[in-house]
Amino acid sequence: MASILIGIGGGIAAYKMATVVSRLVQQQHRVSVVLTHGAQHFVGKATFAALCGTAPVSETYDDRFPLGAHIELAQRADLLVLAPATARLLASCAQGLADDLLATLYLNCECPVLCAPAMSSPMWDKPAVQRNVATLKSDGVLFVGPESGWLSCRKSGLGRMSEPEKLLEWIAAQLAESTS
Ligand SMILES: Cc1cc2nc3c(=O)[nH]c(=O)nc-3n(C[C@H](O)[C@H](O)[C@H](O)COP(=O)(O)O)c2cc1C
Repeated sequence: MASILIGIGGGIAAYKMATVVSRLVQQQHRVSVVLTHGAQHFVGKATFAALCGTAPVSETYDDRFPLGAHIELAQRADLLVLAPATARLLASCAQGLADDLLATLYLNCECPVLCAPAMSSPMWDKPAVQRNVATLKSDGVLFVGPESGWLSCRKSGLGRMSEPEKLLEWIAAQLAESTS
């Protein structure tokens, strides 16, 4: 059983994370969810509260965490998963901006970090985004996807977030590696 921190960004692929979280909970992992403000336009807190048994966190200043959620959640995490990782989230993490709870958590986490980007093809292809991905990879962040396929902008192309099954495989592989 591992302690897994799931950070959900503001993209349509956020809906896939309900499946991922449910499956991880069924595998007896302790799952905590952080929703960015953007993510809350796509998925609701109640969904993840019910799936995890604990309310998701979104605010940097939250009375439930006297030391700061960015400290307390990071301290107990065996793995941080950023999915969907938006262009904004990739940029904040790559540049160490700490401009919201999730980007601050990223800086505090000493555990492995797995990123599953999701965005339109033009966004993914943009040199600025690719520079941020290269920076994060050289910082040791693991990436799964994006895949080619149907995008919510009504086009097919590269930028679709990997499916829950693939994310779950990567999470299991990473947990096995860190405990071996
Ligand atoms: C319908 C819709 C879909 C979006 N999908 C994505 C997406 O897949 N990837 C992305 O990087 N941004 C997407 N955005 C833009 C982000 O929501 C926006 O950049 C936001 O500031 C991201 O903030 P966050 O990283 O804090 O969640 C979308 C916006 C809208 C309105």
